[in-house]
Amino acid sequence: MKPPAPEVAHLPPGVVTLADHEAHARTRLDDNAWAYFSGGAGDELTLRANRAAWDRLQLHPRVLRPLQGGHTRLALLGRTLAHPILLAPVAFQRMAHADGELAAAHAAAALGAGLVLSTQASTPLEAVAAAIAHEPGRGPLWFQLYLQHDRGFTRELVQRAEQAGYEALVLTVDAPTSGARDRERRAGFRVPAAAAAANLAALPPLPAPALAPGQSALFDGLLHHTATWDDVQWLQSISRLPVLLKGVAHADDARQACALQVAGLIVSNHGGRTLDTVPPTAALLPPIVQAVAGQVPVLVDGGIRRGTDVLKAIALGARAVLIGRPAVWGLANAGAVGVAHVLRLLRDELEIAMALCGCAELGDCGPQLLWHGPI
Ligand code: FNR
Repeated sequence: MKPPAPEVAHLPPGVVTLADHEAHARTRLDDNAWAYFSGGAGDELTLRANRAAWDRLQLHPRVLRPLQGGHTRLALLGRTLAHPILLAPVAFQRMAHADGELAAAHAAAALGAGLVLSTQASTPLEAVAAAIAHEPGRGPLWFQLYLQHDRGFTRELVQRAEQAGYEALVLTVDAPTSGARDRERRAGFRVPAAAAAANLAALPPLPAPALAPGQSALFDGLLHHTATWDDVQWLQSISRLPVLLKGVAHADDARQACALQVAGLIVSNHGGRTLDTVPPTAALLPPIVQAVAGQVPVLVDGGIRRGTDVLKAIALGARAVLIGRPAVWGLANAGAVGVAHVLRLLRDELEIAMALCGCAELGDCGPQLLWHGPI
C-alpha cells in the first residue's frame, strides 16, 4: 500500500479527494465566481455526463504481474513527462485566488505537470513563463489560443508566446461563441477588474456590426471573425511552434486535422460549457483514437476527478489527460499548495490504480483493461 500524500498545511484534514476540494472550494468562493467556475451550458447535461461516463466504465484488473520499477512516464511532443496529467486552460484564475495563474504554474512545475495557459489568463503570459522556465522538473508549457477578431493582434500574441518560451500552441476550436450559461446569467456574472484578461488588454474592440434588419448579431457580427480550417494553416504558417487543436469531437474533424499535420488533438467538450447535450468525452474519445490511428497524440479532458478516470482514459487510447475545474478548487482552497495537492492526489491515485490493475507502465494500459461484459 502506498503511503498517503503528506498532510498539507492550510487545507482542512478532511480534504483527501478532488471531490473534497470541490466541497471546500464552495465555502471559499463567492456566488459570482462559483457560477463561473462550476457552471456549464444549458441544462448542464454534458457537464454531468462527462463525470458519469468515467464512473460507468469499469476496470478489469490482472493479478500477479511484476510491478517492480513501474512508473507513469510518457513521451509527448518530443519530451518525457513524469505523468500524464496536465492543467487545462482556465480563464480568469485570479478570481479564485490572488496568486491566480502564477500559483497554478508553480504547482504544475513542482509536480511535473504540463500547463496550458489560457488566452484569457488574468496574468501576463510572460510572467507565468518566467516564473517556471528554469524549474528543472517542470512539465511542458503550452499557450492556449483563441483566435481574435484582429488577426494582427493574434499574430503578436503568438509571437509573444513564442518569445516567452511556450512550447506549443493549443488552438481551441469548440467555442466560436460562449455557450448559453444560465447559471452565470442568473448570478449576473461579471469578471472583476482584478481578474481581467491580462493578455488581451491591448486588443482593439470588435467594431459593432452595422446589421441590416433581420440579420443576426451572432452570425453577421461575432462569427464573421471566427476560426476556420484555413486559420489552422495560417497559424501553422506564422509560428514555428507545434499546433494542437482542442475541442475536437468528431472523427472526421480529427482526420482533417491530421491531414493538416497538427501536432496533437485534445478531445474535449469544454467541460460542458459550450454546446450542451454533446456526448461525454469518454464516449467521443475511442472513435477519434481510431480515426487518428496513431498519427498524432490524442489527449482528453472533461470530468476527470480520480486516478481511475485517468487510467480509463489511457485505456481508451488517450496519451494524457487535462483537468480544469479541480485545479481551480485547489487554487481557491490554498493557492499553489492547493493546486499541488490536487495534482498529487490524482497522480497517487493513478499509481495505485495501475498497480492494482497489474500495469507497471502506461503502455500496458489498453482496452483490455476495461470490462466489456454484462454488468
Ligand atoms: C474552461 N475551459 C477553457 N478552455 C479553453 O480552451 N480556454 C479557456 O480560457 C477556458 N476557460 C475555462 C474556464 C472555466 C471556468 C472552465 C471550467 C473551463 C475549458 C477547460 O480547458 C477544459 O476543457 C475543461 O475545464 C475540462 O473539464 P473539467 O476538468 O473542468 O471537468
